[in-house]
Amino acid sequence: MSRNILILNGSPHTHGNTAALCDAFTDGAAAAGHKVSRFDLQTMNIHGCLGCMKGGKDPEHPCVQKDDMTLIYPAYRSADIVVLASPMYYWGFSSQLKAAFDRLFAVAELDPGYRNPVRDAVLLMAAEGNTPDNRKPVLDYYHALLSQLGWKDLGTVLAGGVLHSGDILKGNGHAALEEARRLGSAIL
Ligand SMILES: Cc1cc2nc3c(=O)[nH]c(=O)nc-3n(C[C@H](O)[C@H](O)[C@H](O)COP(=O)(O)O)c2cc1C
Repeated sequence: MSRNILILNGSPHTHGNTAALCDAFTDGAAAAGHKVSRFDLQTMNIHGCLGCMKGGKDPEHPCVQKDDMTLIYPAYRSADIVVLASPMYYWGFSSQLKAAFDRLFAVAELDPGYRNPVRDAVLLMAAEGNTPDNRKPVLDYYHALLSQLGWKDLGTVLAGGVLHSGDILKGNGHAALEEARRLGSAIL
């Protein structure tokens, strides 16, 4: 069955390590017949959530702020799977990804109980560190987030040991690229 996949890429580097993970995942998913929409958040005008609690009145334009989130809301609505892609920043997501994700709250506001639409999720991440201790905080956060939202994890790919943009492509390419491609192609 073909599924709609939304990638939110929170890296500031359009051709960086996280982008390469997104490319590999997309190659696998597209080859398996899935439809992928990708948003490189750094290139978009997306403001932080105002916490005004005044969204959720119009399903087409759920947020009171009219910026480039208006492009993401329709893709989120039709997505079966949301891919959270980010470099690890201070053992968490980049601010670009966090800002866009917070703004999805306007969609939850359409529901009287503030329930988010239920989606499957994937985490793609690049990081300088390459130890279990380094990965733990963000993986704990990701799994806690999904558990709170009632979302299902389809897989996480964390490319450790890459600092500079493009490090992930050096040599024969980081093993995480093949992991990301396989994860994309394994989506059912
Ligand atoms: C502000 C900032 C914070 C970072 N924090 C971490 C961190 O907590 N742990 C880590 O392993 N790497 C950290 N890094 C390194 C990045 O995760 C790493 O350079 C990554 O490969 C960048 O991916 P990109 O090419 O997609 O931007 C940080 C880098 C920056 C600029």
